[in-house]
Amino acid sequence: MPEAVHEILRHVKEIRAVDFNAYNANTVKRRLALRMGLTGKQDYALYLDYLKETPEEMDALIDALTIKVSCFFRNPLVFELLREYVLPELMDAHREEGLRVWSAGCARGEEAYSTAIIIKEIAEKENISSRAFILATDIDREALNDAIMAGYADEALSEVKKGCLDRHFVPQAGLYMLKEEITSMVNFAFHDVTILKSPKEGIFSDYHIILCRNVLIYFNSDLQKKVIGYLSALIPVKGCLVLGEAETLPEGLRGHFNELMPGSKIFRKEG
Ligand SMILES: C[S@@+](CC[C@H](N)C(=O)[O-])C[C@H]1O[C@@H](n2cnc3c(N)ncnc32)[C@H](O)[C@@H]1O
Repeated sequence: MPEAVHEILRHVKEIRAVDFNAYNANTVKRRLALRMGLTGKQDYALYLDYLKETPEEMDALIDALTIKVSCFFRNPLVFELLREYVLPELMDAHREEGLRVWSAGCARGEEAYSTAIIIKEIAEKENISSRAFILATDIDREALNDAIMAGYADEALSEVKKGCLDRHFVPQAGLYMLKEEITSMVNFAFHDVTILKSPKEGIFSDYHIILCRNVLIYFNSDLQKKVIGYLSALIPVKGCLVLGEAETLPEGLRGHFNELMPGSKIFRKEG
């Protein structure tokens, strides 16, 4: 990445404590060019001056640098496997203390709420406790605010079956509002997964399931390895790390995890 781009990213880091320096260089340059085009700044130095003078531009830049495409039950097979094989066993094993789940890079909460819906439904079906602590984190504050509001348009709901929609959502002003019995199961917090430290809101030192899907693809390979290594160390034996379709475990960790089904990207930690 050109030094002038690093300079912009250093300013972002200073103001917002988010470090995009190890993000995929082409994505960063493309997204930055988009903001420069929209603000009419022809070079990096002019754009940096503008960024320093215009606080709203910082939000717009972070919005452009973070890709928040998501939906409920994205890659439905993953959620079917969680529902059928992973969650019942873990919920049963941790029925006293409660299940701990972390959605790292949660966008507008779709993934965390999808997991909460499944936990609730399993608990009702099996007549067991739905006691679960679900933490969902992201570096985009606007996305986190949207997640807390929990109102979704059609695009986010394309994988939601009619029965599920009727049961867990209420239509309101052109959106579908998720019911409180589900929203109350999830806590949202700002957290940058690249700092390799646990979110303080988590209070726990380990998580039975960590979902970090479609986040790592934006990092360079060195940072991907560091983040996966860090997350995998927080998972106890029999716990699962769930990655995105285009993401995988680095070579060095494969001996410690078994993929539930080839290509599922659900990796269970072995003893
Ligand atoms: C494409 S979305 C993925 C959402 C969801 N996990 C899914 O798979 O549908 C990527 C999310 O990662 C977030 N993100 C990017 N860098 C991050 C970081 N360093 N720490 C935490 N979240 C990050 C972005 O803000 C965005 O909301």
